[in-house]
Amino acid sequence: MSIVLSGIRSTGNLHLGNYFGALRNFVKTQDEHTCYFFIADFHSLTTHPNPKLLHDNVKNVLIEYLAAGIDPQKSTIYVQSDVPEVCELYLLLNMHAYLGELSKTVSFKEKARKQPQNVNAGLLTYPTLMAADILIHNSDYVPVGKDQEQHLELTRKYARRFNNLYGVEYFNEPDAFNFGMELIKIPGLDGSGKMGKSEGNCIYLYDDSKTIEKKVKKALTDAGPTEANQPKPECIENLFTILRVVSLPEVVEYFENKWNIAEIRYGDLKKQLAEDIIKVTSPIRERILDLQNDESYLRNVAREGAEKARESARKTIREVREIMGIKPF
Ligand code: TYM
Repeated sequence: MSIVLSGIRSTGNLHLGNYFGALRNFVKTQDEHTCYFFIADFHSLTTHPNPKLLHDNVKNVLIEYLAAGIDPQKSTIYVQSDVPEVCELYLLLNMHAYLGELSKTVSFKEKARKQPQNVNAGLLTYPTLMAADILIHNSDYVPVGKDQEQHLELTRKYARRFNNLYGVEYFNEPDAFNFGMELIKIPGLDGSGKMGKSEGNCIYLYDDSKTIEKKVKKALTDAGPTEANQPKPECIENLFTILRVVSLPEVVEYFENKWNIAEIRYGDLKKQLAEDIIKVTSPIRERILDLQNDESYLRNVAREGAEKARESARKTIREVREIMGIKPF
């Protein structure tokens, strides 16, 4: 039995990228493995969110995890800040994380460019906190989207470095995971490379049918192919990428064929795409609405999850301290 862990930052509602990049894969593994899924509220502090908003977002993400199919009877769901052992491992790992490698990560360079007035140490050491999340349970597999690949590579490096330095085989080198398939990146509908909260181009699991239809209708397209078998421009490839994850293979084939014979009608493509997205999201949305007022259930899930997560985290910290020579008299 392997240990599978994943997490999502509490910066707002969950979108199709989160679902297809991480959540869906995770839900599929629950029956077979020991699974942890957490809400990364510490990670969202790098942008200094409003405290009330932060708390509401943690609650929303918890609701959306449950609505998307994470079952607290099978998986451990917890809030990162409920497990303080993560902070200790973060500190210990930071002693072996070097400025050169941290400042070179794509996510750091991007964030530093986007928020030049707030290039804080938390932003720089974001990958060590992420490594602490993963290594605190000595995870084997981490379901994530393509954008997290580099962070996973660093986690593997820290695990290896720790083992080598202390002459132990303690940490596993965890793999980014997508069911043997390549990690995916869900693009935005605005022609941009990635669907993301800060990009403002998301279809949320919480969106109702009308909203989804409207968003898909507005998706960027071009004037259409002028001859057969042309390569697709990025904005059209993006629509097909989403189609591939939400629609049946024969539907994808139908539109691929229409593209290839230069007879595609974007109106039809968008109508089908919206319909198939709604098929995925509407049962989730219904469960979100059901769960929204069930405060006592949510509280119990978070409390029980924190207890289970801490049990495993305490063991890791005890052993890591011992290996590093931090011992009681
Ligand atoms: P976050 O909150 O940005 O995204 C959460 C998960 O969703 C995936 N994702 C996507 N996948 C495909 N296409 C997209 N457009 C897309 N947008 C987001 C991400 O790859 C991720 O798997 N640092 C993490 C949170 C985190 C974490 C961890 C994840 C903290 N500690 C430990 C795994 C393990 C983050 O910011 O993800």
